[in-house]
Amino acid sequence: MSDHGDAIDVGRIHHVDEFEAFAEQRLPAATYGYVAGGAGSEGTVRHNRASLDRLRLVPRVLRDMTEISTAATVLGSKISHPLIVAPSAVQRLAHPDGELATARAARDAGLLMILSMNASTTVEDVCATGVRCWMQLYFSLDLDHMGSIVARAEAAGVEALCVTVDHAGMPTRVRELHRPLEIPPEVTFVHLPVDPAKRGVNRALNWEHIDWLAAHTDLPIILKGVLHPADAALAVEHGVSGIIVSNHGGRQLDGTVSAYDVLPAVLDAVGGRLEVFADGGIRSGTDLLKTLALGARAGLVGRPVWWALAAAGEAGVARMLGLVTEDFVAAMRLCGVVDTSRIGPDLLWRD
Ligand code: FNR
Repeated sequence: MSDHGDAIDVGRIHHVDEFEAFAEQRLPAATYGYVAGGAGSEGTVRHNRASLDRLRLVPRVLRDMTEISTAATVLGSKISHPLIVAPSAVQRLAHPDGELATARAARDAGLLMILSMNASTTVEDVCATGVRCWMQLYFSLDLDHMGSIVARAEAAGVEALCVTVDHAGMPTRVRELHRPLEIPPEVTFVHLPVDPAKRGVNRALNWEHIDWLAAHTDLPIILKGVLHPADAALAVEHGVSGIIVSNHGGRQLDGTVSAYDVLPAVLDAVGGRLEVFADGGIRSGTDLLKTLALGARAGLVGRPVWWALAAAGEAGVARMLGLVTEDFVAAMRLCGVVDTSRIGPDLLWRD
C-alpha cells in the first residue's frame, strides 16, 4: 500500500507524466515495478509511446472555435469526452480507496470506467457510486463462476461486458521476477473464485466462449486485446459490439505492433460493423486526438490512473483525467475541429 502521509497538492501537477515521480516515491518498489513494467525487454511499452509520437498533426486554422463539443457516443450513449478509464487490477494497492476513488473521479468527469475482474472493490460498490461502468472479464476455468459474475455485473447495472482476450499465456515480466508483487491481506481479488485452483488462466479460451457469453447475457460484449485484422473480422462474425485494439500496455507479448500501427487495417476489416477503441501510451489530449484521427471512437488510459491514485487518491485521478480532457479541448481548438465526429485522418501526417 502506498504511503499516504502527506497530501500532494495536485494543482501543482500540469502534465499527466508528472504524477509518475510522486507515485514512484510513494509506492513500494514492487508495486511501482508491477505497474510501470511490461513484458520482456519492455520494448512494446516504449513502442506504444513511439507510435503516438511518430504521428504528427496537421492542424486546420481560421475556423470559428468559440463553441466546440467534446462529447462522444459509445454504444449508443454519450460520454463527455472520448476517454475511457482502462481496466486495471487491484487498485487498492495504490490507494486505500482504490477503485472507488477512480469511479468517483470518472463519474464526476462524465467518463466511462471499465472495472477489472481482478479488482479489489466489488462491482456492486463501484456501480453504487453512479459511475457508468463496463465490467472486464478474464475467463476463469469455472464457467459456473463466470455465470455468477455476469449475473452480478448485470444486477449492479454495468452497461457492457469486456472480455480480455490477450491472456492465453503468462508473460515474463522481469521487474516482477526481481521484486515480486506483495499483496497485503486487506487487499483481495473480490471477483475471483474462492478455490485458488480455479483462478488460473483459461488457456482453452476461444470463440466458443464468446458465443457462450452472448448466450448468457443481453449486455453488449466488447473484446479487449485484439490486434490482428483477421480477428477483428471474426469479432464481427461473432456479433460482438466493439473491440479494444490493444497490446495491454505492452504487458503481455513483447514485440507486438501498437494499436496505432494496426488501427487503419482493423477499421478496414470491420467496415463500421462494430465500435473500435484503442489504448497504449495515451498521456494527453493530443494523444487522444491522434487516436481518434486514426479512426478509434475513444481511447483508454491505464497506468496514469495508478500514478494519480498513489499521489492523491480521488483528487489525483480527478486531476489526471482533467489534464487529459482539458488538453483534448485545447487540441481540438488548435486543430480546428468543432466536434469529435470531425476528427479524421486528414489531420495526420506520417513521416
Ligand atoms: C492493466 N491492464 C489490464 N487489462 C485488463 O484487461 N485487465 C486487467 O486486470 C488489467 N490490469 C492491469 C494492471 C495494471 C497495473 C496495468 C498498468 C494495466 C491493461 C490496461 O487495461 C490497458 O490496456 C493498458 O494499461 C493501456 O496502456 P497504458 O495507458 O497503461 O500505457
